[in-house]
Amino acid sequence: MQMNNVICEKDGKTAIVTINRPQALNALNRETLEEILSCFIALEQDTEVCAVIVTGAGEKAFIAGADIAYMQDFDVLSARKFGRLGHQVLQAIESFPCPVIAAVNGFALGGGCELALACDIRLASENAKFGQPEVNLGVIPGFGGTQRLPRLVGTGHANELLFTGDIIDADEACRIGLVNRVVALDQLLQESLKITAKIAAKGPLAVKLCKEAAQAGMEMDLARACQYEADLFGVCFASEDQKEGMKAFLEKRQAKFTGN
Ligand code: HXC
Repeated sequence: MQMNNVICEKDGKTAIVTINRPQALNALNRETLEEILSCFIALEQDTEVCAVIVTGAGEKAFIAGADIAYMQDFDVLSARKFGRLGHQVLQAIESFPCPVIAAVNGFALGGGCELALACDIRLASENAKFGQPEVNLGVIPGFGGTQRLPRLVGTGHANELLFTGDIIDADEACRIGLVNRVVALDQLLQESLKITAKIAAKGPLAVKLCKEAAQAGMEMDLARACQYEADLFGVCFASEDQKEGMKAFLEKRQAKFTGN
């Protein structure tokens, strides 16, 4: 598929999805959202892919939000349609079978912060900035920010960001648990690739089931979630990787996982 605003490439078993509209600080319009969605749908069919990194083109922005010029003249129904498309894209990222890492290389505002929230792990460069500034525009976050942000950082920190529209730097984002760690901008991709390389060396089915258990379990009460974990633990024993992983440990050698 011809894409104008997204670059999708591979580095070994890692796919790198780069939002590429630097002239608008990688802001999300309908076309860009549709391209991200197509990208993730295609990657799901690629059996070689073990992890995905999402980042922004250039050195200034990850994603500076939904495209304000594009949204300005929306009526009620077009705003609702755009919101739903955003949710569809973020759900495709969140429910992508393999881990997705946000390599936040600059401004992650509004829809950009929300997209990072839909990823499994967030790394930030030292120049990264985070915020939900929608209240400055007379609107509320529309790609899940009011929902995923409190779930990740707790209601107190989330409420402050949502109600004030404050923009925080990478260190503050790290302090409140919005990002896992902060690295130099020129190290961001390498550090993200180090994580995906570690993931790619593990049993692929086990990694996918970890993601599924951790994510689905967050929506259940603990007793039900533990039952669900037990079910998925059982599923692991249908795989050759479980046999290889345990055999390799007992034979004191490195496991050779095949993903079967
Ligand atoms: C459209 C944007 C944009 C955006 C930046 N640009 N952010 N265009 N939508 N979200 C454009 C600018 O208009 C400008 O275009 C170019 O990118 C460079 O931006 P500047 O403002 O000149 O850069 P700077 O002064 O460094 O300021 C950077 C910034 C600022 C602090 C990130 O651009 C900013 O505040 N942007 C808006 C952030 C925001 O409010 N995001 C939330 C959007 S609402 P020109 O053509 O002039 O060079 C949202 C809702 C999601 O995300 C849910 C929807 C359902």
